[in-house]
Amino acid sequence: MDRAVVVVAAGSGTRLGVGTAKAFVPVAGRLVLARALEPVFALPEPTLVVVVAPASLLDACHEVVASVAGAAAAYTAVVPGGADRHASVEAGLAVLPDSVTTVLVHDAARCLTPAAQFTRVFDAVATGDGAGFVPALPVTDTVKRVDGDVVAETVDRSALVGVQTPQGFPLAALRTAYSVSGQAETDDAGVFAAAGGTVRVVPGDADAFKITTPWDLGRAESIVRSRTGAPDGVRIGLGLDVHAFDDASPCRVGLLDFPGEAGLSGHSDGDAVAHAVCDALLSAGGLGDIGGTFGTSDPAYAGAAGDVFVRGAVGMLASVGLVPVSVTVQVVGNRPRIGARRAEMQDALAAVVGAPVAVSGTTTDGLGSTGRGEGLAAIATALVRPL
Ligand code: CTP
Ligand code: MG
Repeated sequence: MDRAVVVVAAGSGTRLGVGTAKAFVPVAGRLVLARALEPVFALPEPTLVVVVAPASLLDACHEVVASVAGAAAAYTAVVPGGADRHASVEAGLAVLPDSVTTVLVHDAARCLTPAAQFTRVFDAVATGDGAGFVPALPVTDTVKRVDGDVVAETVDRSALVGVQTPQGFPLAALRTAYSVSGQAETDDAGVFAAAGGTVRVVPGDADAFKITTPWDLGRAESIVRSRTGAPDGVRIGLGLDVHAFDDASPCRVGLLDFPGEAGLSGHSDGDAVAHAVCDALLSAGGLGDIGGTFGTSDPAYAGAAGDVFVRGAVGMLASVGLVPVSVTVQVVGNRPRIGARRAEMQDALAAVVGAPVAVSGTTTDGLGSTGRGEGLAAIATALVRPL
């Protein structure tokens, strides 16, 4: 195997300040180290992977590497790091076999770096005539040189870039550079250049930022969440209810009175919209259904208004640590027409649910029981999240 990636993960994460080595801090439920290794093991070309870990966490590191590497686990090594990044990189380089010609050095702390960035750097080194390559992004802020708190000058930012990892080099030249370098350089390109090597830039990626502070960790969490589409623990529920018309009852639909319209039959006030919302909320929490929870014949609920059930479902969700995020409900039937009172119905339901409720309506083109005007149906979805 002629390609290798050294992932340095031996830092203590002092500035993050969570009391755990940074590589072992979770980002949206998955360790920084596991996330950092995912793109490395997704590379199509066979690649040796060396992880440099805190000496006290070698076993834990082996476990993470094995779980992410899968079948590629045979081509991995875990070694203890040193007192600073410089020493940790040297420890990683030291165990690479001589068959390796190109090495990429990567910060585990840049755990959302896309696989394409590794490929870009490998490809550049392959055709780079012995140069080193670093991913870089233009500096977007105006940059000032200061003397204490006095601005001395504005630096021309057109000639400045911020550099990331992985940084790629011909292995033999990088080893030589490290063997003659002091500890002053803060990245591998600095060590390489100090020894006389040429370093060029390739395009970086905003997602390859380094997690340094708690703010960076929050940023990483929100990027992961926006990629997966849903925050952890979000659940969806579904509810359907149908009631027959009953001319003798007042018409209550979606917590509103519809004077002059036929009412709906039922042990309670027959508000199919409120009941569908209640069932959607209960099912989102895995809490059963309205009949099993409130009792279809319990005298306590004789003639009960729909809000009693919706409020009850919201209370039960809270008792298991869940809160509604949003609800949708579709009213299916010929009458009453809800279009003109949609906003009012949404507001009435949202006030009880405690989250936005979207109401829509449809007829069934004369088909089925609702099409024949025998009753009204409603179908609802509810999204809930942990409190
Ligand atoms: N690193 C390392 N060995 C060290 C110091 C740092 O392997 N002795 C690694 C870190 O694990 C990280 C990368 O180098 O992936 C960049 O370092 P940095 O962001 O400074 O991480 P920490 O040193 O862990 O953080 P801090 O400086 O806040 O303590
Ligand atoms: Mg550090």
